[in-house]
Amino acid sequence: MQSSTQSLDTQCRSDFPVLKRRVRDDKALVYLDNAATTQKPIQVIDAITNYYKNHNSNIHRAVHALAEESTEAFEATRSKIAKFLNIAHSEEIIFVRGTTEAINLIAYAWGRDNVQKGDIIVTTEYEHHSNIVPWQVLTQETGAELRYVDIDDNGELMLEQLDEHLATGKVKLVAVSHVSNVLGTITDIQKVIKKCKDAGAKILIDGAQAVPHMKVDIGNLGCDFYAFSAHKMLGPTGVGVLWARKELLENMKPFQCGGDMIREVHKQETTWNDLPYKFEAGTPNVADVICFAAAIDYLTEIGMDNVRNHEIELTKYALEKMSKVKGLVIYGPNDTKKQGGVISFNFKDVHPHDVATIIDKNGVAIRSGHHCAQVLMEKLDVAATNRASFYIYNTKEEVNTLIDSLEQVAKVFKL
Ligand SMILES: Cc1ncc(COP(=O)(O)O)c(C=O)c1O
Repeated sequence: MQSSTQSLDTQCRSDFPVLKRRVRDDKALVYLDNAATTQKPIQVIDAITNYYKNHNSNIHRAVHALAEESTEAFEATRSKIAKFLNIAHSEEIIFVRGTTEAINLIAYAWGRDNVQKGDIIVTTEYEHHSNIVPWQVLTQETGAELRYVDIDDNGELMLEQLDEHLATGKVKLVAVSHVSNVLGTITDIQKVIKKCKDAGAKILIDGAQAVPHMKVDIGNLGCDFYAFSAHKMLGPTGVGVLWARKELLENMKPFQCGGDMIREVHKQETTWNDLPYKFEAGTPNVADVICFAAAIDYLTEIGMDNVRNHEIELTKYALEKMSKVKGLVIYGPNDTKKQGGVISFNFKDVHPHDVATIIDKNGVAIRSGHHCAQVLMEKLDVAATNRASFYIYNTKEEVNTLIDSLEQVAKVFKL
């Protein structure tokens, strides 16, 4: 990374080899699909190569040198995450495959023992499928009820509905995104947590679009469960984190059974290992967990406030310019105080896949589709949207290329 007097994108852009790519008839790649997954800096790529070249071994088992080195590096990532998110007890950090697996773990290991017929689980209209479907399955299996907090015309949660649900006294769990992956809406999470606590309901936060983009202080949030994925914050795919309060984890049965999660196994019975290993059955994704540490180092060096400020600047710039593109409908708060670096939009009567295909010819990579949020699509009364999402390496020039490309679309469709 270069001098901190430069803009964030200038400081870090050269660390990302893929951003030098030319695509589609030699166009510079403009990567604006960061909500799906971010690109990786050379520091992360080198960390994984270094691991396989010099240290590769299974962990928590053998006493030889490589096993010790790998175990130490794996556990060092856990400690690094604890520091990054202000988590006092690193044994509350469980490595999983991603946000999806973290939420499923809670739905199975906590949900099956704590949710019964007559109970209510509350989620919201702007959740990713991974924070809806596990709760549908759980409520269908147990006879509990699944309720929603709807969104208003600005794409913000109607929290008075949460009050109504909580007032029943039957809510066991509220499962909510910290930041919507489609609208970019930032949930007033402190308010939601307080409401849940006052009502005695547990709260799970899907932080997949929050931890990569802003300072998150899990230690002081006061929630019960928090989940996020490494690949959306410069890290590798196949690694995610479930954080949960110790007493909850201690009282939960394991999610999966096998190696490493046991203390003693006899013919007819088994006792469980300590936290966090009780929830990490089998050989974990050792290499990727270890190289995730390089991603956290990278973000720590930048500073999460600088990450957020850079995204605010780009989003504000993009929203202003997009508001002038003919025929463009923008969803969500349209206000960077309440919005992360995600903008969803449609051209009236033009399918988002057509928009994405046309602008891809200019090298601009955005996402088109339902974004794993079909409940939200139903609410917006569309089948799909286009989504541009920013990260630390994106520039205003790239936003200009996006806008020029969208203007071309408007021309092609005579809007
Ligand atoms: C808000 C949100 N939750 C959950 C997920 C699922 O994450 P993963 O696919 O890494 O498990 C995503 C991924 O896009 C997301 O944006």
